[in-house]
Amino acid sequence: MSLLTIETTCDETAAAVIGEDGTVHGSAIATQEKLHERFTGVVPEIASRAHVERILPVIDTALKQAKMGAKDLAAVAVAYTPGLAGSLLVGVVAAKTLAAAWRLPLVGINHLHAHLYACQLSAPHSVYPCVGLIVSGGHTSLYHCTSALDLTYLGGTIDDAAGEAFDKVAAMLRIGFPGGPAVSRLAKSGDPKAYQFPRAMLNDAGFDFSFSGVKTAVRYAIVGPGKQDFEGLVIDDEKKANVCASFEAAVVDVLVQKSVRAIKKVCVDQLCVGGGVAANGMLRRELEMAAKKHRFRLTIAPPELCTDNAVMGAIAWEKIRRGEFAGLDLNIQPGLQRGY
Ligand code: KG4
Ligand code: ZN
Repeated sequence: MSLLTIETTCDETAAAVIGEDGTVHGSAIATQEKLHERFTGVVPEIASRAHVERILPVIDTALKQAKMGAKDLAAVAVAYTPGLAGSLLVGVVAAKTLAAAWRLPLVGINHLHAHLYACQLSAPHSVYPCVGLIVSGGHTSLYHCTSALDLTYLGGTIDDAAGEAFDKVAAMLRIGFPGGPAVSRLAKSGDPKAYQFPRAMLNDAGFDFSFSGVKTAVRYAIVGPGKQDFEGLVIDDEKKANVCASFEAAVVDVLVQKSVRAIKKVCVDQLCVGGGVAANGMLRRELEMAAKKHRFRLTIAPPELCTDNAVMGAIAWEKIRRGEFAGLDLNIQPGLQRGY
């Protein structure tokens, strides 16, 4: 039997059909990048309307790829938290409707837990127990994970998420949306030491992060302090590349150092990293070097499973094995998951 998984937490409409052994029989993603590009950020109302248009074709595509229908499915699973309210609603209503119509059990998925589970999907060994680092557009959090579903919060950002900072830096430099890939592309030709951007909270005892300061420092590097408006400002390519490289180095530095410290603190020898920012080449390289130096086993989600997708919804199989089903009263839990 297989699972139908649905993901609509932010701006990707995705569905997948996944066997109990993790085999992906079908997977479809409709991205909304073009719709949000001119706003240099996701506009929630536009996102939810686009989900409404796309959800059924996307589910249909995943089922057709799998050559499967309701009779082949063991359950319908859906990400119900965290995320944008209107976006989550579309996925949850679709999943509940199909579960009711097809008389299938329903499973609720935590989107952050699913991001980390993407690591297990690519690993031939158990990735637990581990420290899990989630770095996405809305979240930057460290967890002690004793299983796919048992996570203890160690710390997280107290303001912006790492991905959000990438997006805002790209918007200030006007180099494209989403910002992460654009910044890392330009960073390749820049000098990571050109600007000494702050590594906030690096030496704090806990595992919290802060990325709003580095964002402000980038702004000052571009326009100088105290200037409100930088409409019409011309930034040459060399400066753009240097800002990107120095910003990326600052963010990666903090993420790597705090993750290593977390592993030592909770006495595990594995680190898992998931979420959109985990696709970043420099972060991946620096983590690999840290893994060699500090002798821990590193599993980073494969690049195609870092950004939002429905394949990581395979975590629902873990819930099914535990008998953790949701009722048709499953409701969305929108917003950011901060502090837990
Ligand atoms: O996990 P995700 O697709 O959505 C959320 O759950 O938030 O993450 C999206 C974030 C965006 O902020 C995007 O700029 C960032 O991941 N991102 C990257 C890269 N690719 C995507 N950040 C840095 N480097 C990348 N290569
Ligand atoms: Zn995500």
